[in-house]
Amino acid sequence: MNKWVQGLIRPDVLDRQAYVVADPGDAIRLNQMENPYGWDAEFWAECMQAIQRCEVNRYPDASGAQLIQAIRQHDRLADTWGVMLGNGSDEIIQTLIQAACDGTRPVMAPTPTFVMFQIIAQQCRVPFVGVELDANWQLDRPGFIQAMQQHNPALVFLAQPNNPTGTLYHEADLRAIIEACPGLVVIDEAYGPFSPRNHQAWLDEYPNLVLMRTFSKLGLAGLRCGYLTGPAEWIEQINKVRLPYNLGVLNQQVAHFALTQGAELMAEQARRLIASREALIAAFRKRGWQAYDSDANFILLEVDNPSEVYADLVTQGILIKDLSRAHPSLARCLRVSIGTPDENQQLLHALDRALA
Ligand SMILES: Cc1ncc(COP(=O)(O)O)c(C=O)c1O
Repeated sequence: MNKWVQGLIRPDVLDRQAYVVADPGDAIRLNQMENPYGWDAEFWAECMQAIQRCEVNRYPDASGAQLIQAIRQHDRLADTWGVMLGNGSDEIIQTLIQAACDGTRPVMAPTPTFVMFQIIAQQCRVPFVGVELDANWQLDRPGFIQAMQQHNPALVFLAQPNNPTGTLYHEADLRAIIEACPGLVVIDEAYGPFSPRNHQAWLDEYPNLVLMRTFSKLGLAGLRCGYLTGPAEWIEQINKVRLPYNLGVLNQQVAHFALTQGAELMAEQARRLIASREALIAAFRKRGWQAYDSDANFILLEVDNPSEVYADLVTQGILIKDLSRAHPSLARCLRVSIGTPDENQQLLHALDRALA
């Protein structure tokens, strides 16, 4: 390696692997919890008209005011809550950590969970403390509270529903953890559109709570658009750390169009995915496979040889997620995103062959 690179780049960065996503080619993509339904040509044509009004020679609206207004209306957010836009939730996680963590107080989360909480914390040189979920993928309430007392976290991330387990934690455990938390709790509702629970009313109850949401799972993963909402005082401070112009003018315009003209379309697609999820879980269980309940747009499945099954599916043209090396408790686990009914059928056939 060039000695300049060797001498200048942080050792922990030199040791890291880049975040690589394999080229899916023509494979059926059931590995990233995307919405498989696109937009039809007519709806796209309407969107194009809205995009034509964008001035790409100008910087975007740094405050994202028009999009924030649409989000406020769509989610019925109270005037007393602020909204901050992010280039996907990933960027918001980074902004939160930069705003709240000085490197001494850690980030905490129940594990296994969304890997970016830990990856981004480490990248920001902030310690990460994970507390294991129990055998039913539920919170270990006393264990988590005791760990918070010991480690004094600045931030606690609770993905609800959780990725990769698909679980909603028991409400009483969640509340107890928020009440006992010495720092800011972020409920990550990325999979909220597929879940019966919404924590919005909790914002009025807890002064140390904010909610993070994204358009990615609703059908706009390519846009990279998420947002943080909660008491205005929190958002005002966290927003200071956000990079100006973090959301391009086209992203803002398409997200605005989707929310104002396509909300019912996206909600209907989410309902179809929920129905497909339940059908797929039933089909898995009918075959005697261990599929966990899910409140998200994916299913966690336990099999004897997950890496072999994963590789077999790749040869059959289907990409899913092999979690067997992601966390000790996931050693037997695969995660499959819900696709169209046709894709789900192909997945079932491919799994039948792989597990025969
Ligand atoms: C729990 C959770 N939060 C956030 C995200 C990422 O969302 P975004 O695409 O907005 O960065 C994911 C992606 O898989 C996720 O599982």
